[in-house]
Amino acid sequence: MAKYKIAWLPGDGVGKDVMEAARIVLDALKFDAEYIPGDIGWEFWKHEGDPLPKRTIEMMKQTDAALFGAITSKPKEEAAKELDDHLKDKGLVYFSPIVRLRQEFNLHTNMRPCKAYPGNPLNYKEGIDLVVFRENTEGLYGGVEFHPIPQEVFDVLDKHHPKMGKFRQYGLENLAMSTRIMSRQKCENIVRQAFEYAKKHGRKSVTVVDKPNVLRETGGLMVRTAREVAKNYPDIPLYETNIDAQAMWLLKNPFDYDILVAENMFGDILSDLAAQLVGGLGFASAGNIGDNYAVFEPTHGSAPKYAGQYKVNPIAMLLATKLMLDWLGETKDGERLESAIATVIKEGKVRTYDMGGNNTTLEVAEEVARKL
Ligand code: IPM
Ligand code: MG
Repeated sequence: MAKYKIAWLPGDGVGKDVMEAARIVLDALKFDAEYIPGDIGWEFWKHEGDPLPKRTIEMMKQTDAALFGAITSKPKEEAAKELDDHLKDKGLVYFSPIVRLRQEFNLHTNMRPCKAYPGNPLNYKEGIDLVVFRENTEGLYGGVEFHPIPQEVFDVLDKHHPKMGKFRQYGLENLAMSTRIMSRQKCENIVRQAFEYAKKHGRKSVTVVDKPNVLRETGGLMVRTAREVAKNYPDIPLYETNIDAQAMWLLKNPFDYDILVAENMFGDILSDLAAQLVGGLGFASAGNIGDNYAVFEPTHGSAPKYAGQYKVNPIAMLLATKLMLDWLGETKDGERLESAIATVIKEGKVRTYDMGGNNTTLEVAEEVARKL
C-alpha cells in the first residue's frame, strides 16, 4: 500500500494542465502515494447542479491531503443560466467549491508564500520574501448574504442598530447585504499560525492588516486579539496597518514587511498584491490548512482561454506541491523540489510565455524533474 492517499482535483480549465505538471515532479521524486481523482468544477455544476458533489467530499475524507488545480467561478445569474434544463428554476445557487471546501473541512489557515526567486525576470524587486496568512473560513467570505433582505432580518437589525433605518426608503427588494462575521477564536488562530510560522522560520515581524478605524467591531476584534497573541512572542514585533495603506506600502517598501496576517477578504486581496511582487499568479501557491487535513492549490484561476494548451506557468502548482510535501512531513522532498524550481528559474533556459519564453507547461515541469 502506498504511504499516502492524495485526493487529485484538477477542476477546470488550466487546472488540468498544471496538475499534469505536478504529477511529473511527484513521480520524479518517487513520492509514495496513491492519487484518487475527484469530481469538482463547472461541469458538475452544469450537469448536476453541484460543483462539489458529496461523493467528492466523502472521497476526500479517506485521503491524507488534496491537490487542487483551478475552478471556474461565475456570478449568480450567469451561473444559473448555464445549468442543464432539468436543473433550471430549482433555485440552485452557485457557491464557489474551493470556498466551500475550506469551510466543510475547516481549513482555517490559508498560507501564501510570496518569494522572489533570483533570476525571475518578473520580480518587482529581488529579495522580496513575504508570507500572507489569510483567515480562510469566515469574515466577508463566510457566505452569510441576503438579496433581498428578508423583512424579519431587516426589522431585527433596525431594532438593534440606529443606522439601519435609513435603508428602508429603497425597499427591501433593492437591498443586498453581505455580512462580515468574525470570531475571536478564528482571529486568534490565524494570528497564532502567523507567529508560530515566524518563530519556526526566524522571521523578523508579523503585521496584522485590517481597517479597525472604520470596521470598528470586526477590525477591532482582529487587532485586539492580535495584540493578545503577540504577548506570547516577545521577540517578534507585531505591526498594525490598515489595508489601504498596506497596499501602498507594500509597493513602496516591500522589505519592511515579512509575515502578513489578515481576515479572509483582505487576505485574498493582499495575497494577489504580494504575488504580483514576485512574478504574478504564475508563482503564487497556497496551502488551505486545517487541524487534520489540507488542500494545496495554485491561486491562479482556470484561465478558460488557455485550457488544454499547456501554455500557463506550472510553477505556482509546483510550489503548491512543495507546500503539500512540507505539510505531510516530507520536508526533504519539499526542499529538493523548491531548490529544483529555483534552479530552473535562475537558469532561465526553460520558461513559459509569462516569463518571456515559449516552453510549455509540461516542459517546465520536466526541466524541474531533471534538476531533482
Ligand atoms: C483565491 C481565489 C478564490 C478566493 C476565489 C476563486 C473564490 O481568489 O483563492 O484567492 O477568493 O478565495
Ligand atoms: Mg484570490
